[in-house]
Amino acid sequence: MICTQNCRMIQEDCVHFLASLEGSSVDLIFCDPPHGTVHEGISSPGQNFGFGHKVESDPIMGNSIEYLNWCEPWIRECHRVLAPTGNAFFMGTHNSIGWMLAASLIVGFQTRNLITWSVTNPVPPLARRLTTSCTFVAWVVKSGKYYFDRAASRRFGNHRQLSDLWASRSMRKSEKHGHPMTKPEWLLERIISIWSLPGALVVDPFFGSGTTAVVALRLGRRFAGCDIDPRAVAIAERRIGDVHHV
Ligand SMILES: C[S@@+](CC[C@H](N)C(=O)[O-])C[C@H]1O[C@@H](n2cnc3c(N)ncnc32)[C@H](O)[C@@H]1O
Repeated sequence: MICTQNCRMIQEDCVHFLASLEGSSVDLIFCDPPHGTVHEGISSPGQNFGFGHKVESDPIMGNSIEYLNWCEPWIRECHRVLAPTGNAFFMGTHNSIGWMLAASLIVGFQTRNLITWSVTNPVPPLARRLTTSCTFVAWVVKSGKYYFDRAASRRFGNHRQLSDLWASRSMRKSEKHGHPMTKPEWLLERIISIWSLPGALVVDPFFGSGTTAVVALRLGRRFAGCDIDPRAVAIAERRIGDVHHV
């Protein structure tokens, strides 16, 4: 557990953690929950989601309506804690993003964009289907007063308004810090720079290896988050300790 003025990271369930935050107090929420895909090591409903073990709160596969039922309580909490000027992002696969969008509309969020992160060197599947190269990030808001730095978006878009298609090569194993689902830092850099101000409170209730925390602190934001898995918490704390004096 880390608990300083700028950074709070604990091992806890996402719903309990979010319930501990004050209403309308958060500027940016980034959620990259377990999606229940083979990519994460899940072979059948209710099984592993990353480290090859099962815990009580594992959601079942992202292509089942039970995934929607699992998402709704924490997405409802995200809506409660987000400031009217805030922005929230839900990251998922083709299996899970539809349920997350449905839950976010049910609880009252408005969708602004569905960003596609496309990997330019995907691994072809063994199964009878197309090669999966895309992951999705839904950007949702609570009201029309949301913060958006147009100049920053143009900077990331090479002097043109950034589009909703973001491409990159796949991540190397060395960039994953021992967590199978680590996301690239450039992705969080864009999101945090465009959709929040320095000093803003950034929350990630599924922080995994701590990518959101590392980038938020580097960019001068404050961070609060949780992960249910003690191994993820240990990786994230080590990573934060290496990069920042929190
Ligand atoms: C896809 S990974 C997040 C990876 C992260 N974005 C990163 O860059 O490292 C999802 C994380 O959610 C955590 N998790 C699963 N169920 C949870 C729950 N009910 N509450 C909080 N965290 C949970 C898992 O332990 C896992 O580390």
